[in-house]
Amino acid sequence: MPLKGPAKVRRHYDEVAEIYDRRYAEGTGRSYHRHISDQVMNWLPPGGRLLDIGCGTGLFIEQYLERGGRGVGLDISPKMIERGRDRVPAADWVVGTGESLPFRDDSFDAVSSLLAFSYFKDPQGMLSEVYRVLRPGGRVALCTLGRNFLTAGLPAIHTLGELARVRQVGMGNFGERYYSEAEMSELFSGASFVDVRVKRCSFAHLNLARPVFQLARKIEPIVEQRLPYLAYNICATGRKPHP
Ligand SMILES: C[S@@+](CC[C@H](N)C(=O)[O-])C[C@H]1O[C@@H](n2cnc3c(N)ncnc32)[C@H](O)[C@@H]1O
Repeated sequence: MPLKGPAKVRRHYDEVAEIYDRRYAEGTGRSYHRHISDQVMNWLPPGGRLLDIGCGTGLFIEQYLERGGRGVGLDISPKMIERGRDRVPAADWVVGTGESLPFRDDSFDAVSSLLAFSYFKDPQGMLSEVYRVLRPGGRVALCTLGRNFLTAGLPAIHTLGELARVRQVGMGNFGERYYSEAEMSELFSGASFVDVRVKRCSFAHLNLARPVFQLARKIEPIVEQRLPYLAYNICATGRKPHP
């Protein structure tokens, strides 16, 4: 029987773990990932205990630890976790789903999630779980594909890619969801976060042909400042208030 839902996502990332690492850990992929990571990182308190949800191969945790923090990576794919553990042995690694976190209340200073939020079937439930495990005053920051005309065609491309058996990161019909600024803001407020901020980032996307990507990187700061609706990703942050 064909797999569905989270089991299908897990199998996909188990299969592409090596390709994923090659795509994002070096070259243009690294610079794309760094650009996104920096936006999320700048919102988080340095030096605390971080939970990274949908942590993949540990690229963000590595960066957080370099700044003096401690980290736990959680991901649904055991193969992605294996690579994360190899990359950052000093962090803790857990196979699990972001929608039901196996951690005590108030146990993290910061929670991050990069390029994984689109997979959650219950985004409000996931954010409520994040709220529960954050200590009062702690902050969550995430980055995920936003909904605009640049991303509108992606589900169709991914579905066709699956039919043609293209072995590439994200290629499959996983029922991913992309969000507008207003929806993201509502989700965060709905989970009781305060000081909610939402912005768009990353005009240069890796799906672009390399020369176009290089050009897009050059004009990225102008687009992000003046024409943010042209950016692919949406970043959001919120703080758990003190009682
Ligand atoms: C595009 S990758 C991003 C990985 C990493 N955050 C990064 O920035 O390199 C998406 C990750 O989300 C994970 N994922 C998808 N659904 C998940 C879920 N329900 N719970 C936990 N992880 C999930 C996938 O296994 C995959 O590793």
